[in-house]
Amino acid sequence: MSLPYIVGNWKMNGLRASLAEARAIDRAAARYPKVELALAPPATLISRMRDVVQTIDLGGQDCHVEESGAFTGDISAAILKDAGAEFVIVGHSERRSTYRESDETVCAKAQAALDAGLSVIVCVGETEAQRDAGDAEAVVTAQVAGSVPQGDDVAPRLTLAYEPVWAIGTGRVPSLDDVEAMHRAIRETLLKVCGDAGSNVRILYGGSVKPENAAELLGADEVGGALVGGASLTAESVIGIVEAISPAGSE
Ligand code: 13P
Repeated sequence: MSLPYIVGNWKMNGLRASLAEARAIDRAAARYPKVELALAPPATLISRMRDVVQTIDLGGQDCHVEESGAFTGDISAAILKDAGAEFVIVGHSERRSTYRESDETVCAKAQAALDAGLSVIVCVGETEAQRDAGDAEAVVTAQVAGSVPQGDDVAPRLTLAYEPVWAIGTGRVPSLDDVEAMHRAIRETLLKVCGDAGSNVRILYGGSVKPENAAELLGADEVGGALVGGASLTAESVIGIVEAISPAGSE
C-alpha cells in the first residue's frame, strides 16, 4: 500500500519570503517517512523552492495543453518541468469555474503533463447545488471518466483529487460516509478507465482539511491522502496534519 500523500496547493499565495515555510515543511518531511509531502506553489517560486528543498515533491497548479507557443500569460508542462516540478494539478474547481475548463480541456492538460514527463493530479468535485439535487456521484464520476486520459501508461503517474466545491475554503466537510461513498465511486470509474492499474491510483480528499480533522478524513476507506489549500501555507499547520495522521516515531 502506498504512503499517504499530502499535497499543499498554495493557490495564488506565496512570495520569496514563503520559501522559509517550504524549507521547514521539507525538514519536517524527513522526520515523517511514512507520509509523502508535496507543495504546489505559484509557478514563480518552483525554481527557487527546488534549490532549497530535498525531500518533498514540487508541482504546478495548472498547465496549457500545448508545449510552447503564442499563449500570453500561460505556462506549459514542459516549462514547469524545466523549473523543477515533478507534477502538475489540473482541473481544480477554481479553474473549472473561473476559466470554464471542460472535462475535455482538463483531459488534454493531463495528457500534456504526462507527455512532458510529469505526474498529474486531476481534480474533480460537485457543487453544493449538484449534491443537494442528488447528482453528486453522477457528476463526479462523469468528470473522472471525461478528465482522465486513456492509455496503459497513465495510471502509474496519475493521482485523483476529490474536492467538493462547497467544502473548499469554507470549513465545511462532507460526512465520512459521503467521502467513502464518493471515493468508492471514483475507484470504480478508475477501474473502468485505467483497467486493473486503476486499483493503485491514489485518491486524495480536498476541502477544508486541517490538523483537527485530518486523522478522521485520512482514515476513511479509499482516502489515499489530502489536497490541502489554506492549511498548507504554514509549516506549523502542515506539520499538524502530518502529526495527526502519522505521529513522529510511530510504527
Ligand atoms: P482549502 O483546504 O483551503 O479548503 O482548499 C482546498 C483546495 O482547494 C486544495 O486544492
